[in-house]
Amino acid sequence: MCGIIGYIGDRKACEVIVKGLKRLEYRGYDSVGVVTESNGKLYIKKGVGSVDEVVERLNLLDMPGKRGVGHTRWATHGVPNDINAHPQMDCTGKIALVHNGIIENFAELKEELVEKGHTFESDTDTEIIAHLIEEELKSSETFEDALRKALLRLKGSFALGVIYTEEPDRLYFVRNESPLVLGIGNGEMFGASDVPAFLEYTNRVVFLDDMEYAVVTKNSWVVKRLETGEEVRKEVKTVEWTLEMAEKAGFPHFMLKEIYEQPRVLRDAIHGNAKVIGDVAKEIAKYNKIFIVAMGTSYHAGLVGKYLFQRLAKKVPIVEDASEFRYEFENLIDEDSLVIAITQSGETADTLAAMKLAKRKGAKVLAIVNVVGSMATRIADLTLYTHAGPEIGVAATKTYTTQLAVLTMLAIELARTLGTADEEYLTKLEESLRGIPDIVEEVLNLNEPLRELAKGLKEKENFFYIGRGIGVPTALEGALKLKEISYIHAEGLSAGELKHGPLALIEEGVPVVAIAPSGKTFDKMLGNVEEAKARGAYIIALGSSERLRGVSDALIEIPEVDELLTPIPYIVPLQLLAYHLAVLRGNDPDKPRNLAKSVTVE
Ligand code: F6R
Repeated sequence: MCGIIGYIGDRKACEVIVKGLKRLEYRGYDSVGVVTESNGKLYIKKGVGSVDEVVERLNLLDMPGKRGVGHTRWATHGVPNDINAHPQMDCTGKIALVHNGIIENFAELKEELVEKGHTFESDTDTEIIAHLIEEELKSSETFEDALRKALLRLKGSFALGVIYTEEPDRLYFVRNESPLVLGIGNGEMFGASDVPAFLEYTNRVVFLDDMEYAVVTKNSWVVKRLETGEEVRKEVKTVEWTLEMAEKAGFPHFMLKEIYEQPRVLRDAIHGNAKVIGDVAKEIAKYNKIFIVAMGTSYHAGLVGKYLFQRLAKKVPIVEDASEFRYEFENLIDEDSLVIAITQSGETADTLAAMKLAKRKGAKVLAIVNVVGSMATRIADLTLYTHAGPEIGVAATKTYTTQLAVLTMLAIELARTLGTADEEYLTKLEESLRGIPDIVEEVLNLNEPLRELAKGLKEKENFFYIGRGIGVPTALEGALKLKEISYIHAEGLSAGELKHGPLALIEEGVPVVAIAPSGKTFDKMLGNVEEAKARGAYIIALGSSERLRGVSDALIEIPEVDELLTPIPYIVPLQLLAYHLAVLRGNDPDKPRNLAKSVTVE
C-alpha cells in the first residue's frame, strides 16, 4: 500500500510532488522518494522515513526539473530501506517508476530477466517492472508499446507513474486494481493515488479503470486500454472537495477533526440519499438471499445492518468478512442473491474480490461507498454514497457513522416497500434519524470529561467492551478503535458471553465498557455489569438510565434514542476515548503503526 503522485507542467516538479506526498502519507509512511527530469537526466532522491524526515534529510525540495513522480511507501516486498524505496529504475537508468500494488509473478519474471543479463539492486517486486519495460523496448517501436507489452505480463495489482528520459514531454500513469486518478490543469497535469494530492491545483479529475493507462503531456492527456492500446473516452469530473476539507482545519489530528465533522456529514449522508434510497430499496426488495461483505470497521457497520434488516424488513442477511466470503460462499451465490459491499475507500482488495465473485455468479451488487469513482462503484450495479468527504485519519470514524445512517435509511425504505413494519413507526424512526446529528453534537460535548477519564486509564493494558443485540457491533467497533490507535489490547463481545470464558480475565481495575442503552435487554445488561463489578472491574457505562449510576465507576450519559439508532451516538464517545488514550500514550492516532488507510492487497 503506497501513495503515488506525478507532475508535468511549468512549476518546480519536486515542490508539487512533495506537497502531494504529504497529503498521501496516510496511504503509507515507511519510506519516500522522488524522481525528476531535467535536460534529459534523471535526478533521484529516496530514503526511509516520513515525508517530513526525508524531505529534510535529503533536501527533496532542491531537485531540478518540471516533470517527475514521487512515492510514499508501505512495504510489501522487501523491508523498508533506502534501496527498496521507490522510484525504481532499469539497468540503463533511463526508465524510473513508482508503484502501488503487488506483482504476484515477480519471482518468475525476475529469474527470467536475470538470465537475460539484468542486474537488480533492490528486493522489491517493483524493480522488475522497470527492467521488463527495458527488455521489451529492445523489440518495440515505441516506448508506449514496450510499456504495454511489459505490463501485460504482470500478474497482480499496480498503479504506476512512469518517466522515460528519451521522451522529454510526457509521463505515463497506469491502473490495475490499485487506484489512480488524473488531475487536469491548465498547462499542467497530475496523476495520483488520490485526489487531495493535487487538489490545491485542480479539481478536474479523470478516474482510470483497471487495465487502463494514460499518456500525459503538460497540455494534453489521453487514456488507453492496456490490452489493445486503443483510446478510451473518459469523462472529466469535477470534485467538490475543497483543500481545506482535506486538511486538519485547526485540529491537532485528522482523526479528531473527523470525529467532530460527524454531525455535518451525517446530515449530508441523510440529505444526499433521501431522493435515491427509495429506488434502490425497490430494486433490492425482491432478493431473499442477502449477503453483506466488508472488512474492519465497515464490517462492523455490516453487523449493525443485519440487526436493522432483521428488525425492520424481516430479512436476515448473512454478514461475512470479505476475505472469508470468497472461499465460503462461492457455491451459494446466484442470480437470486443480493450482495451489499460496504467500503469507505472503495478500494479494499478483499471487498473488491468478493464483489467481483458475486458479479461472476450473477448476483446483484450494491455498494455503500465513500470515495466517488472508486473501483467498488464501478463494479457495483447500484451505489449509495456516504457523503462523508475525505477521511485522512487511518482509523475510520465519520465514514462509519455515515455508513450506519445509510444502512438505517435503506432498512427503513426496504421495510416500507415490503410492508414489514408499521408506517407510523417508520415515519417516526426517519424523523428520529434526522435528529441524530444533533444528538451527536451533544455527545461531542463529552470530549473534555472523556479526556479526563482517559488520563486515569492510560496505563491499562486490557479493556473489555460488552453490548447486547444491536449494541454488540458497537462493542466490537469500540474495541477495534482502541486497539488500532492506542495499542491497548481490547476485546469486544456480547455481554452474555462474558461468563462463558472471558470473565476469568476480569480482576481488580480491569476496565469494562458497557454499551447499555434502554431497551429490552437493559436489565440483562445490568446483571452482566454487576457480574464484572463483583470481580473488581472498573465499569464505564454508556447509557441514558439513572439506574446505571449505581453500578458504574464512570457514566457516559447519552440522550435517549430509539434502540435501532443507538449505534450512531454510542460509538462517538468510544472514538473519543480511543483518541485521547492514543495521544496520552504518545501515539500518533492518524498513523497507527503497521496500518494504512486502504488495504489494496489481499
Ligand atoms: C479501522 C479501519 C479499517 C477499515 C477496513 C476497510 O478503523 O479503518 O478496519 O474499515 O480496512 O476499509 P474500507 O472501508 O475502505 O473497505
